[in-house]
Amino acid sequence: MTSRLTIAIQKSGRLSKESLALLKACGVKFSINDARLIAHSTSHNIDLLRVRDDDIPGLVMDGVVDLGLVGENVLEEARLEREATAMNANFVALRSLEFGHCRLSLAVPKEAQERGLAQLNGARIATTYPRLLQRYLQQQQIAARSVVLTGSVEVAPRAGLADAVCDLVSTGATLEANGLVETDVVFRSQAQLIQTAELSDPNKLALINQLLPRVDGVQLAKE
Ligand code: PRP
Ligand code: ZN
Ligand code: MG
Repeated sequence: MTSRLTIAIQKSGRLSKESLALLKACGVKFSINDARLIAHSTSHNIDLLRVRDDDIPGLVMDGVVDLGLVGENVLEEARLEREATAMNANFVALRSLEFGHCRLSLAVPKEAQERGLAQLNGARIATTYPRLLQRYLQQQQIAARSVVLTGSVEVAPRAGLADAVCDLVSTGATLEANGLVETDVVFRSQAQLIQTAELSDPNKLALINQLLPRVDGVQLAKE
């Protein structure tokens, strides 16, 4: 039996729709049942694994799936975390994709008088990305504490949990709605197509080689 290529994509979130659209535009057909984690392609030997985006880098690095579609923000945070904890952080970056553009930014309550980076010395900063945040602060020689929250980061200052936030911004609507003003860009991100480092199955490699030119075609059409 021919082995099936497994691709991890975000189940629900900013990358989901466009990840599915990209695969569709590449001619990969499947029907998604929202209750199911796995979707089998009806046109190719491909299985889609629909998971939380935060889990995608680890699944690829551990070789649990062959390919992943994930934001650079999540990918780089996971890579730094794994490096720091002596875990395998290897993967192959195949393509940067023309969707999922966003930035990880520092933001402070709009009432804050001084908005310079130096004001963050000694501050508590709420974030889901402590490694990316601390790398940036170190480069800027700022000593601040991170308060790690996996969600609702934008309400942390109002709740008295933090003085500032370091969160993803795309339209800026979330910051605006929470009375926060963006002050510094920490990391710029877009979606990436990544592959597990040790892939030797010839059927899978052939399938990837068939898909990549199609991915490139779709990207070119978007430019
Ligand atoms: C990010 C971020 C904000 C929102 C910002 O969350 O945490 O909530 O997007 O986008 P905006 O500038 O367009 O308002 P995301 O949707 O990535 O989900 P997650 O935090 O649950 O991973
Ligand atoms: Zn997420
Ligand atoms: Mg959010």
